[in-house]
Amino acid sequence: APPQPRDLLGRPLRDLRLSLIEACNFRCPYCMPADRIAEDHGLDAGSRLSFDEIETLVRGFARLGVSKLRLTGGEPLLRKRLPELVARLAVIPGIDDLALTTNGSLLAPQARALRGAGLRRLTVSLDALDPGRYRALSGGRGEVADVLAGIAAAAAAGFAPLKLNCVVQRGVNEDEVLPLVAFAREHGHVMRFIEYMDVGTCNGWDAARVLPSAELRDRIHARWPLRPLDPNYRGEVASRYAFEDGGGEIGFVSSVSEPFCGDCHRARVSADGRLFTCLFAGQGSDLRGVLRDGEEALAGRVAMLWNARSDRYSELRGQVDGSRRHVEMYLVGG
Ligand code: GTP
Ligand code: 5AD
Ligand code: SF4
Ligand code: SF4
Repeated sequence: APPQPRDLLGRPLRDLRLSLIEACNFRCPYCMPADRIAEDHGLDAGSRLSFDEIETLVRGFARLGVSKLRLTGGEPLLRKRLPELVARLAVIPGIDDLALTTNGSLLAPQARALRGAGLRRLTVSLDALDPGRYRALSGGRGEVADVLAGIAAAAAAGFAPLKLNCVVQRGVNEDEVLPLVAFAREHGHVMRFIEYMDVGTCNGWDAARVLPSAELRDRIHARWPLRPLDPNYRGEVASRYAFEDGGGEIGFVSSVSEPFCGDCHRARVSADGRLFTCLFAGQGSDLRGVLRDGEEALAGRVAMLWNARSDRYSELRGQVDGSRRHVEMYLVGG
């Protein structure tokens, strides 16, 4: 096996977040605002990596020490024949964690097939329980009832407990937080609250809408007392807390108030095969050309790019020019 790369800050490469598709059936204002992103947004299907290319890519990353693979989008359940792809990725030596992040709207009819294909973990985005609020937060596209049906189907298919992600915006959905916690507790899922981030350039980010996790945690603690838990693994993105009453656990992703770049072991690849070494990177590096030469060549190129990495955007936020262009979230799936 080739030596495992370390970046300029000494960080190894452990996780790959792979976007399968840049299209989405939602238009969440913080990600793909409907007035900025065309209705038919998306590459031609032919510009996306094929299943063969994806398999080679993942094998190449696994050679470099990647053991955790998360499939994202856009909305990954829009990718045709997804279970077939999952089945091919699930058996790659070295990949011992295979997860997927979805908006959940298309999940109910697909949950069983995904489980059967070897998908191990599912994260569903859930920003509100109120139907009108949910619809607005999805850009008028989503019905919360469909997502709740997707969550129930996924639990029944063996994915329980699921992680449920909520991006919290002050003055927008902060009043959904306690109902979401109650829902997750009742069903035994793990609710996670994500600080609203300045990802991408199309979403008109407003710092005033960031609700720091510490404040949110105090509000939840006042209703259901919490105690901190140790991370499950080094560099875990969410800080975890347990309910004192034994009602499960909860997480906070605090990339604005408490950046976690020091332990960032994540690479991202867009659906058309570009490597991004940070969620806030300005541009990616094309891997498609080298993919044609096979997994070893791919691994060599990625190692070279990783060795040259020095990204730590969240730690530098405020010190760097905020008008700089960042890759859009829907291209690299968060
Ligand atoms: P687990 O594998 O379950 O631990 O997942 P995770 O903690 O990586 O969580 P998930 O993939 O659901 O990520 C949750 C959210 O955290 C993402 O949607 C992003 O909004 C944010 N996030 C994840 N990774 C990074 C990162 O490297 N940098 C920043 N700034 N935010 C991130
Ligand atoms: N800030 C924080 N999280 C975001 N996501 C998308 N855009 C943003 C943003 N601006 C999250 C989604 C989903 C995941 C794919 O990324 O809510 O949970
Ligand atoms: Fe689609 Fe997810 Fe972006 Fe919402 S956050 S528009 S569901 S990719
Ligand atoms: Fe990693 Fe960039 Fe996020 Fe920092 S901002 S944790 S370097 S992806």
